[in-house]
Amino acid sequence: MAEFKEISPNATAGEKLMNWVDNRFPATKLFKEHMSEYYAPKNFNIWYVFGSLSLLVLVIQIVTGIFLTMHYKPDASIAFASVEYIMRDVPWGWLIRYMHSTGASAFFIVVYLHMFRGLLYGSYRKPRELVWIFGCAIFLCLMAEAFMGYLLPWGQMSYWGAQVIVNLFSAIPFIGPDLALLIRGDFVVGDATLNRFFSFHVIAVPLVLLGLVVAHIIALHEVGSNNPDGIEIKGPGAPKDAQGHPLDGIPFHPYYSVHDIFAVSVFLMVFSAIVFFAPEFGGYFLEYNNFIPADPLKTPLHIAPVWYFTPYYSMLRAITSEMMYVLILCVLAGAALSVMKLKLPSVIKVAVLAGAAALCALMLAIDAKFWGVVVMGAAVIILFFLPWLDNCAVKSIRYRPDWHKYLYAVFVIVFVILGYLGVQPPSPVGERVSQVGTLFYFGFFLLMPWWSQLGQTKPVPDRVTFAAH
Ligand code: HEM
Repeated sequence: MAEFKEISPNATAGEKLMNWVDNRFPATKLFKEHMSEYYAPKNFNIWYVFGSLSLLVLVIQIVTGIFLTMHYKPDASIAFASVEYIMRDVPWGWLIRYMHSTGASAFFIVVYLHMFRGLLYGSYRKPRELVWIFGCAIFLCLMAEAFMGYLLPWGQMSYWGAQVIVNLFSAIPFIGPDLALLIRGDFVVGDATLNRFFSFHVIAVPLVLLGLVVAHIIALHEVGSNNPDGIEIKGPGAPKDAQGHPLDGIPFHPYYSVHDIFAVSVFLMVFSAIVFFAPEFGGYFLEYNNFIPADPLKTPLHIAPVWYFTPYYSMLRAITSEMMYVLILCVLAGAALSVMKLKLPSVIKVAVLAGAAALCALMLAIDAKFWGVVVMGAAVIILFFLPWLDNCAVKSIRYRPDWHKYLYAVFVIVFVILGYLGVQPPSPVGERVSQVGTLFYFGFFLLMPWWSQLGQTKPVPDRVTFAAH
């Protein structure tokens, strides 16, 4: 037990109260450790505001979600009407609902930017692997949360979107049909599905999400933040002052709390503009078809998920039976190259070749639809491995060869094109483009161990680059 701290009888009432609390709960200690004495690199730029903005959106979603739950009815016969009731009759219900629906898209916008910052500055690399892994787990939970939330209004898109995605699970050999049944709780998406999705959406997934966010931040504060130069400011050789504080660091509070408050203000202006003036955002944030009640007898002409899923949805649609031959070629080429180029013991070489042959046999035997699901899942899972795929001698894009910048730019463009194609109805040209895009996406990650070490890196300075302003 920590020693009981006495306080002067002349102290103010506020100080006495804080002393009373601190003797029972480490409030001041926690504040110091994570805010006023958490030294963050002094060269943070605008890319560093998206972590705090993700926290803000998380809070918005939880608070508006609590109020929505007070009026929403998770019952297939009245769910749609209860949402309309919230929109028309509940005082301020429209605002709460639009904040929540806009918040879902805002969440993905800030999280995608937050992840891209990690990619730019190599923030996933040693010693921040766990920060990144917790982040990837958060991203998975966020996708599950958004998918299940989308079923709740019980509109046409809610219903048919869930139908399409849950049916994907039935493509898994042997266990697929039973798994899909387990997820739906019925042979079709119905009341049982709505109830279980509701319970996962309002309690199970948010609990896991909150736990992961806490773990994410604890892990980050354990190792310290990275920065746009990718230089460690707290490592053994880093310059420190007489108290041992990093010379290239400044306390998070007040310096970055102010920085983040500015970002929060700008974010809230844009967020409010959308909530008040364009909550449907041209059908991208709230799809027009979802203003029609779910009708199990009427399939909409074109079913597309919300924009934040569409890059992955495009990859799913790209895997046609024709594309399987290209993938088989890729597997064979990968196996041949690793046997020829890597210095592996001959047993391993034989195992690689046998494994590739077995995989190709499975790829020919099992329907392309299943491999589409595998590719879609792998597109997210591969992110977990990023810390071990990148072999570049430096962390930050600033000191990598210039062509790395172009490669990252092409990666972003491909991701956006895949996203665009995913909202469009299928077309022969779109299919080809998404196939090329899918190959590029996986090539970017799978070939990273090779390409990341090519080219001449620039000298990394000893201290972070910072111009006082
Ligand atoms: C609810 C979602 C999330 C929240 C609330 C959140 C919160 C934060 C916060 C507050 C920071 C410190 C401030 C900053 O560096 O921006 C941070 C850093 C970081 N986050 Fe997240 N995060 C989330 C999702 C993710 C995801 C999905 C990833 C990656 C897959 C990720 C990867 C990282 C990394 C690598 C850092 C360290 C960055 C650096 O030091 O350069 N985070 N996060």
